[in-house]
Amino acid sequence: MCGIFGFVGNRSAAPLLIEGLRRLEYRGYDSTGLVVRNGSLQMFKKVGKVSELTKILPNHIEGKMGIAHTRWATHGPVTDSNAHPHMNMDESIALVHNGIIDNAKSLRNRLESKGVELTSETDSEVLVHMITIGLNSGQEPLEAVRQTLMRVTGTWGLCVLFKEYNQIICARNGSPLIIGQGVGESFVSSDPHALSQHTQNIFFLEDGDMAIVSSDGIDISRLEGGSSTTSMTILEDEWGEADMAGYPNFMLKEIHEQPEALRRCISGRLDKSNGSAKLGGLKLEPVRLRNSPHVRLIGCGTALNACRIGQLAIESLARIPAVAHVSSEFRYNDPVINPNAIHFAVSQSGETADTISAVKEIQLKGGDAHGIINVVGSSIARLCGQGVYIHSGPEQAVASTKAFTNMVASLLLFAIRIGRTRSFSRERGRNIIENFERIPQLMETYLSNQGPIDEAVELVKNAKSILYLGRGLSAPVASEGALKMLELAYIPCLAYPAGEMKHGPIALLEEGSPVIVIAPNDKHREKTIASMHECKARGAKIILIHEDGDSISEEADISIAIPACDSLLSPLLSVIPTQLIAYKTALALGCDVDRPRNLAKSVTVE
Ligand code: F6R
Repeated sequence: MCGIFGFVGNRSAAPLLIEGLRRLEYRGYDSTGLVVRNGSLQMFKKVGKVSELTKILPNHIEGKMGIAHTRWATHGPVTDSNAHPHMNMDESIALVHNGIIDNAKSLRNRLESKGVELTSETDSEVLVHMITIGLNSGQEPLEAVRQTLMRVTGTWGLCVLFKEYNQIICARNGSPLIIGQGVGESFVSSDPHALSQHTQNIFFLEDGDMAIVSSDGIDISRLEGGSSTTSMTILEDEWGEADMAGYPNFMLKEIHEQPEALRRCISGRLDKSNGSAKLGGLKLEPVRLRNSPHVRLIGCGTALNACRIGQLAIESLARIPAVAHVSSEFRYNDPVINPNAIHFAVSQSGETADTISAVKEIQLKGGDAHGIINVVGSSIARLCGQGVYIHSGPEQAVASTKAFTNMVASLLLFAIRIGRTRSFSRERGRNIIENFERIPQLMETYLSNQGPIDEAVELVKNAKSILYLGRGLSAPVASEGALKMLELAYIPCLAYPAGEMKHGPIALLEEGSPVIVIAPNDKHREKTIASMHECKARGAKIILIHEDGDSISEEADISIAIPACDSLLSPLLSVIPTQLIAYKTALALGCDVDRPRNLAKSVTVE
């Protein structure tokens, strides 16, 4: 949700800023802009993706220092003037901002009453004018930014560039910002993807941190004054692999990366001899696992669908109540927190504001939370201070795929771990672990023979709506398939537990309506067949995802076979055809699969 990139050093800034923006574009792509310092501040900004910005740039832009931004609009429509950076009236200060300034309206009125002309409808622009007032009254840049931020409420990750000063001022409160230190050069970025090619030496700013960034180094202090304890960390290697590696887009690359990503996720975590799982980052002693009253799992979107699978698996294997919660609802429903309960915050980015709020609510009420996170060092990972990294590697396509399978895998590993502590036998545990080890290979088997995905696409691409059905663990898989389709191809989709379909959604069915059914060979199979019959009786066409060799395929109009596996693990395989159907439908309809409209990869506002 908005990407920020900054550079100061001895190299030409503009190409580095553009490259940084390209890597951050998945965070928001309503508009982009940059400003470079070279005696004056030269600014360029444009509605659309980075490719639109590059069309208006001159061949060469002088200057070895600059800041850049890619926007996901919150305040003010998508226009050139609302694009960042924002400049003050004499064009001596420029600012890029990620977050929301809550009291922008009153600040705006006050500035206008002092004769300041605001040129955008954004909340962010007030900041640059307030900093100007501070600077004009004799404050140094850091102090002017500090005094401004003391007067605003809201969230920010921001960078400020000054015509007269050889430094960038950065600040963070609620929106991520990291600083990279190279040799004689420094970088600022919203996330590690854009930095990994330049330096491994990273400072993850904490809320309330401010920094002076220059080519000589980085000086981090606190908004309230005094120095910060934020220290340098070394970036993990896996954040380097963010190019398309010969695939036409990131989405297809990431779908195909799932076997390898899963291998990374489970590597060293399968405890074959004990029929259990090893999750070193979880600070949960066996006695706590045994005595905990319940498990709560919290996430949004795809992460929520993973939580729903985790909920069922944990309850089933460990005989402990488990419940999945929508992050954005959690805090506002004033939940009762039992400090002995186990809480998981599940997030690919680790920056989702709704999930952060939920974690803070748990902690405020005396509980603790464990992260199930992809981005190492991200806000939720640090806030929780304990948990499981899912090790998917960078996920660049906005629609989540390989993070979903690894979130599910991590939660299944936890279900096995807590299950072994509480109820099921070593033999059953060993059996699941042996099956788990085979899943990456089975994913490869499916990906090398995907079945009639193109036929499925023909059936759904012009449909008014698509119904997704599944039971048990396959109900959240149906939700995930539907989410992928509506995100990518903009086709209205409904996902229902198959048995619930007859209580309402069946009214939508007419001759030729596509219904995608996920039906592995598990205990729900017969009931799911009954639901399919109800659909077919109303003229619906069934696209069935089922296990290879299962005669259930006779029920289908289009039958897509996945390799047979332990039914507990089936979501790891059955979701892949749903990803491919969504992906290919979006392509058939001419949609941008990596950058679907209106979306952003990490949603850092509530
Ligand atoms: C779906 C998707 C979103 C995210 C959601 C949570 O494809 O990408 O629904 O899953 O915004 O994001 P994270 O996992 O980063 O908290």
